[in-house]
Amino acid sequence: MVMNVKGYAALAVKEDLVPHSFVRRDPREDDVVIDILYSGVCHSDIHNAYNDWGSAKYPMVPGHEIIGRVVHVGKSVTKFAVGDLAGVGCMVDSCQHCSACKQGLEQYCEEGNTLTYNDIDRHDGLPTFGGYSDKIVVTEKFVVKVPEGIDLRGAAPLLCAGITTWSPLRHWQVGEGSKVAVVGLGGLGHMAIKLANALGAEVTLFTRSPGKEADARRLGASHVVLSTDPEQMKAAANQFDLIIDTVPYVHDLNPYIPTLALSGTLVLVGYLGALDPFLNTVPLILGRKSVAGSVIGGIAETQEMLDFCGQHGITADVEVINIQDINNAWQRMLKSDVKYRFVIDIASLK
Ligand SMILES: NC(=O)c1ccc[n+]([C@@H]2O[C@H](COP(=O)([O-])OP(=O)(O)OC[C@H]3O[C@@H](n4cnc5c(N)ncnc54)[C@H](OP(=O)(O)O)[C@@H]3O)[C@@H](O)[C@H]2O)c1
Ligand SMILES: [Zn+2]
Ligand SMILES: [Zn+2]
Repeated sequence: MVMNVKGYAALAVKEDLVPHSFVRRDPREDDVVIDILYSGVCHSDIHNAYNDWGSAKYPMVPGHEIIGRVVHVGKSVTKFAVGDLAGVGCMVDSCQHCSACKQGLEQYCEEGNTLTYNDIDRHDGLPTFGGYSDKIVVTEKFVVKVPEGIDLRGAAPLLCAGITTWSPLRHWQVGEGSKVAVVGLGGLGHMAIKLANALGAEVTLFTRSPGKEADARRLGASHVVLSTDPEQMKAAANQFDLIIDTVPYVHDLNPYIPTLALSGTLVLVGYLGALDPFLNTVPLILGRKSVAGSVIGGIAETQEMLDFCGQHGITADVEVINIQDINNAWQRMLKSDVKYRFVIDIASLK
């Protein structure tokens, strides 16, 4: 059985995405086949397609915030039945035996996890293609259950933006009484505000965009600091237990370190690469502060986050688009003009 799939792909670096038909693998015994309903648009899709990380493979079908319905299950599948709602995030496989995988932290697989797109399947060596398409085939281990009753369009971004901010909030044990700051109000930033707020933290947004202040408060921030105003930055000194920094490009971390409380941590989830300017270690040493990094989250943790969002009625604030509008959506994201996640209605592909 050949599975013909319709999608949108980047065929070369920095070129517009175009309609693209391709073939997915025959489902294996442990696979589920998902008819994709909604696919979120992450800034990582742009980084990948623009080869910002030096690993682009074309044609590239981006998309790793996938919500759909199961239309086929392999013989050994136990978790899903045909008709179930299902979610797929940034990874579709891992080695399953290294120390990270054994802890349920497949995102840190020592042999490298298999990414949902722009990667190579570890069993058959075929390229992986993402959610800007109408069907996907994934081993059930990397598929999560989507709570019934949740708004499916707003749920798609939970699969990356949600879990990427949930994982550090949980790892650094954010709860009642914690003070959390978020740098950048985009897809990840707005989920970080909602999730930290729901966990009981007092939340502050650092933004370069004065126009986003009212939205930040509506999303759950108690304070908004304009990061371009040195006076406001000074007034925020010694406050935060955790800062989640979602900025996608190189930027100066030095102004944020003094705003950490004693023993506080700034965790980078956005920019991948060398820092410029260099980080001054003085406030780190004198305040026992940390700078850390974090990537997405494990499968069990993703399920925990989805269940939490189901219980608390949390979804992303989305602008639903037809896939034909994807290039315009990317241009708007590059201008920090998204409120606060684009989600593709995959019905527009049919
Ligand atoms: N670690 C992981 O597992 C993981 C997972 C998903 C995504 N990511 C990465 O996280 C980053 C954010 O993704 P996203 O989808 O949330 O992006 P996004 O929706 O484009 O939001 C990024 C926000 O950062 C701020 N910003 C943008 N450019 C900036 C600059 N040059 N200097 C300072 N602030 C800037 C803007 O907020 P203001 O207007 O409020 O300043 C913007 O809205 C991307 O790099 C993405 O690749 C990482
Ligand atoms: Zn992402
Ligand atoms: Zn592993």
